[in-house]
Amino acid sequence: LIRGPVLGLEASCDETAAAVLAPDGTVLAEAVRSQLAEHTPFGGVVPEIAARAHLAHLPALTADVLARAGVKAADLGGIAATSGPGLIGGLIVCATFGKGMALAHDLPFVAVNHLEGHALTARLPGLVEGGAKFPYLLLLLSGGHCQCVAVEGLGQYRRLGSTLDDAVGEAFDKSAKLMGLPWPGGPALEKLAQTGDPKRFPLPRPMLGRPGCDFSFSGLKTAVAQTIPKLQTEQDRADLAAAFQRVVAAVLADRAKNALGMMDGATAMVVAGGVAANQAVRTALAGVAEKHGLPLVAPPIRLCTDNAVMIAWAGIERLRAGLTDPLDHAPRPRWPL
Ligand code: KG4
Ligand code: ZN
Repeated sequence: LIRGPVLGLEASCDETAAAVLAPDGTVLAEAVRSQLAEHTPFGGVVPEIAARAHLAHLPALTADVLARAGVKAADLGGIAATSGPGLIGGLIVCATFGKGMALAHDLPFVAVNHLEGHALTARLPGLVEGGAKFPYLLLLLSGGHCQCVAVEGLGQYRRLGSTLDDAVGEAFDKSAKLMGLPWPGGPALEKLAQTGDPKRFPLPRPMLGRPGCDFSFSGLKTAVAQTIPKLQTEQDRADLAAAFQRVVAAVLADRAKNALGMMDGATAMVVAGGVAANQAVRTALAGVAEKHGLPLVAPPIRLCTDNAVMIAWAGIERLRAGLTDPLDHAPRPRWPL
């Protein structure tokens, strides 16, 4: 049905990425170029800088993965490009570049929802034996998204809960910033927490014990801000980081438990997004999954954070189902699953 390898393109935030996958999901080549260096001086992603960097780097990344995969553009079976949600400048670069290639080589084009990419990653055949089976619970834990989704089939996603304020990665980043850690704060905070005593500073546990699986993190951030003046030593800072991380892990576990209760016949609990890199979070979620007799599918970090393998794979799933998009498909900065 798909007549050659599929090229995936990603540029919705601050990672420029390209990947080539065989129609069966085998990764032939992948590349990610992070824009960390461009945005670090500003302490966050600057959309205009991001769009220009995507434009500067996407063509070379694409040529690189095609060369390493040993595939000529004309022999591709399709082009899958992230077309939302995200920063509109990068989305326009990504979708337009993909459409240009599709037009030049007469290839099918798939406009991929970035969230669908995260949602379907667990179905890559190389990840779990044969790929995760529908339905499963997806916990999307990134800097921009924080939701529990029942993944019931291709294009069938039921949002069970989401954040009422900040995304969990955003909570990590904002609290880390308050503690004087460099951006992006998640990894830095995790490192600091290693030497901390999580029981020293009591912090609120937002939403814990409430029905449903929505999240809220702004109260926790406020509590962190109120604790900052009490910090004197490096040990104090480590203790606060450890307390914060422990609360987040506990809250995520509580929400995940309720989310599983809102689903019938889930085959697995799947995590995606940068926060899935956090070991304390993984351990807490693994505990919940185990209690439900389910495997926790935590893809390798490079597939949890933004990448083009997941976009190519979502493209393959869509092409297999006969779904393509016209070349006038408009990128969407907001595009719920
Ligand atoms: O999925 P991602 O790379 O990008 C999007 O937001 O789409 O996620 C980035 C987020 C950032 O907020 C970052 O601080 C957080 O994931 N993060 C972590 C860790 N590594 C990345 N948070 C906690 N612990 C980590 N080890
Ligand atoms: Zn993402």
